Amino acid sequence: MTQADDHVIIFDTTLRDGEQALPQSLSMRQKMQIALALEELGVDVIETGFPISSRGDFESCEAIAKALKRSVPCGLARCVEKDIDAVGEALAAAERFRIHTFIATSDIHVQDKLRRSFDDVVEMAVKAVAHARSYTDDVEFSCEDAGRTPIDNLCRMVEAAIRAGATTINLPDTVGYTLPAEFSSIIATVMNRVPNIDQAVVSVHCHNDLGMATANSLSALQAGARQIECCMNGLGERAGNCSLEEVAMAIKLRSKYLGGLRTNIVSQNIARTSALVSKLCHEPVPSHKAIVGSNAFSHSSGIHQDGVLKNRETYEILTPESVGFKGNTMHMTARSGRHMIRSCLKNLGYDDSDYDLNEIYARFLKLADRKGQVFDYDLEALLFFTKLDEEDDKYHLDILNVMSGSGDTVPTATVRLRVGKRTRTESSIGNGPVDALYNCITRLTGVKCKLTSYDITANGAGMDALGQVDVTVDHEGRIFHGMGLSTDVIEASALALIHAINNIERSKSIHQKRRLTGV
Ligand code: KIV
Ligand code: ZN
Repeated sequence: MTQADDHVIIFDTTLRDGEQALPQSLSMRQKMQIALALEELGVDVIETGFPISSRGDFESCEAIAKALKRSVPCGLARCVEKDIDAVGEALAAAERFRIHTFIATSDIHVQDKLRRSFDDVVEMAVKAVAHARSYTDDVEFSCEDAGRTPIDNLCRMVEAAIRAGATTINLPDTVGYTLPAEFSSIIATVMNRVPNIDQAVVSVHCHNDLGMATANSLSALQAGARQIECCMNGLGERAGNCSLEEVAMAIKLRSKYLGGLRTNIVSQNIARTSALVSKLCHEPVPSHKAIVGSNAFSHSSGIHQDGVLKNRETYEILTPESVGFKGNTMHMTARSGRHMIRSCLKNLGYDDSDYDLNEIYARFLKLADRKGQVFDYDLEALLFFTKLDEEDDKYHLDILNVMSGSGDTVPTATVRLRVGKRTRTESSIGNGPVDALYNCITRLTGVKCKLTSYDITANGAGMDALGQVDVTVDHEGRIFHGMGLSTDVIEASALALIHAINNIERSKSIHQKRRLTGV
């Protein structure tokens, strides 16, 4: 693959290094969805799998290779002829493809794992690269555990692999052991000492065992590397690989510091690709994860919130929009200041003259102490109701009966709601007990809402734990939250949806009251 000097090739290995670390494997359909999303994201090379490892892997590599139009598909092979043949055959249908072959080069791997001499290992590598070149002129060779390989051996191996035809030389920190200055000095030494290094692109593949994967990859760029191997959300063996979104945004934001380097990543697609990978891999993204965590653009402390409202750049180096999030979220908690409350009310359409800030702020603090987090409809309610309590709720759960079981049992729910002095009863079936329950409740209330998230957590420990269900629902484009707490998770589920629907009703009646009274 040819490249401009300032272009950093992004090589994504979510479907190989990332997938091999998952407790469950991905189906062919899921791999295809991820590959197409990575292509949309602007990834240059996609490592689609390890075709020799299973028939399923071979077939998914084959299908993805046929489907990709811009990204180059790549398959992994040990320095073994049958592995290389498997990649060559799986990717043959693609217009261009890469074979990635690897062998370990550190003393501990060569002696204790491969149980061979270093000379043997060099010979195996040379043969493998030459064989791979019979399938394609895009051959990558990796020195596994390069980070712990004696530098003379590393330089010798790299020179031999390039002479055999490797066009990309990958130097992995397989066990995430090195520190940034140390890793960049390894790369710099290889760049300076290997005579034919100008005939290959130097790549790095850093694992995150000491939390250095992104820093090490960036330090390698400063030493001359021009390909970074990474995974979406930092997935991968053990502590994971270098995270794609982190390096891509670091290169974008600090391009000047990095001598004008750039990537082809379409940063606005990062959030959605991250969400897709997280969902399909069942690997939740930690809330504090850089770039893609749900808190990455949230400001909690009063001082930070105040600063951001005056000028975003006081505490934001990136905008959430630049990675495809809708906007920053202010967590309204007891730590929020008056400025924050005023700004949220302004966003909801209220002017300063609509309320007394001191009074509303005092009530907000009381509520925040009780509830933890306050949502915008709570603020609206504070404006118009003196009591924000269950007494204001339109719907109350009266009776609940759910039947579910294995085999042919059809999950069925019966719910009786109290609405003022009357009761309403409904029965429904569903694809599970919660679905049956939610069908009943939405029919009983007639409120159209789409469940957008459902989370269940245990409060406390053991038998005394209380199940907390948090739901968010979309009603006419606005998101409402509901929370239910019970020792019975089915009841907690019902309470959470009813709470969300009561919040919708409350918001509707506030707007109606405003229309009628003109305030
Ligand atoms: O971590 C590693 O060394 C690897 C190689 C196969 C590139 O994943
Ligand atoms: Zn790896």
